[in-house]
Amino acid sequence: MQLRHIVSTTQFLDTTVLNRLFAMANNLEAQDRWGSVPQVLKGKILATVFYEPSTRTRFSFEAAMNKLGGSVISTESAEQFSSVTKGETLQDTVRIIGAYADVIVLRHKVRGAAAQAAEVSSVPIINAGDGDGEHPTQALLDVWTIQKECGGISGLKVALVGDLKYGRTVHSLLHLLALYSGVHIFLVSPPSFALPEKDKRMLEQKGISFSEEQDLRTVLKEADVVYMTRLQKERMGSGDVPEQYGLTKQDVSLMKNNAIILHPLPRVSELPAEIDADHRAKYFDQARNGLYMRMALLCSVFNTG
Ligand code: NCD
Repeated sequence: MQLRHIVSTTQFLDTTVLNRLFAMANNLEAQDRWGSVPQVLKGKILATVFYEPSTRTRFSFEAAMNKLGGSVISTESAEQFSSVTKGETLQDTVRIIGAYADVIVLRHKVRGAAAQAAEVSSVPIINAGDGDGEHPTQALLDVWTIQKECGGISGLKVALVGDLKYGRTVHSLLHLLALYSGVHIFLVSPPSFALPEKDKRMLEQKGISFSEEQDLRTVLKEADVVYMTRLQKERMGSGDVPEQYGLTKQDVSLMKNNAIILHPLPRVSELPAEIDADHRAKYFDQARNGLYMRMALLCSVFNTG
């Protein structure tokens, strides 16, 4: 199975490719446990080019490449350490890095940057987050985590909580959830951080059942998956007024026994550490799953899966 650029989850039109990726990721996880990951990317070079901070996405992609036998070249603060400071365009930067690397993982502040890069790039571009646009590889690891933990995705009630306006992980996740039948989505956000109208229209067009909810406590009793997100302070405009929201231990006690709590991380006040010991807290497993999903994606990009 070959993927070329991975720019948006709208590229995934049905669950067939997702199931292939889940199977590959499961397999790679088992092989890693036995210390027998095939070195299929030996001789290939991955470039991570990040114009925004990252812990999980960059490290997991770099670890994924290393585990598969490939190597990594990297710039963490691309704005400071690349020729962007001299005025070079993103397009030129990508063209040049593509002459040295076989795949580029790009995180950028501007929505649409990964798509622009893909237009000129001679090597595959993987979008590691483009401003408030999308974060497709995060959404793929999110749905894989739901599949693993809940045994399936169709028919689930999924609460998306927090900053649905600027949260790119949510924007990507919605397109993937829309591929499964019978899913209901609860949208729970402070009023000024509601899901943009265009995303609501997309859900309507795809016939996805969703409701906008004010009261998190009511939703918690019904949801199978509670997907928390932090307020994206770095993306807020002058009209945005930050608001406090979050889960408490008491809130979690309202949840179904077999429900799960996810968070793309980093978390701040919306997900206090006192919840970590609860059996429903799956966000650290989710972060670990990122390694294997990204290994599966790299194998797909190089058609070795
Ligand atoms: C997310 C991101 O960068 O959009 N982080 C991540 O990649 N796991 C979420 C966030 O920063 O809030």
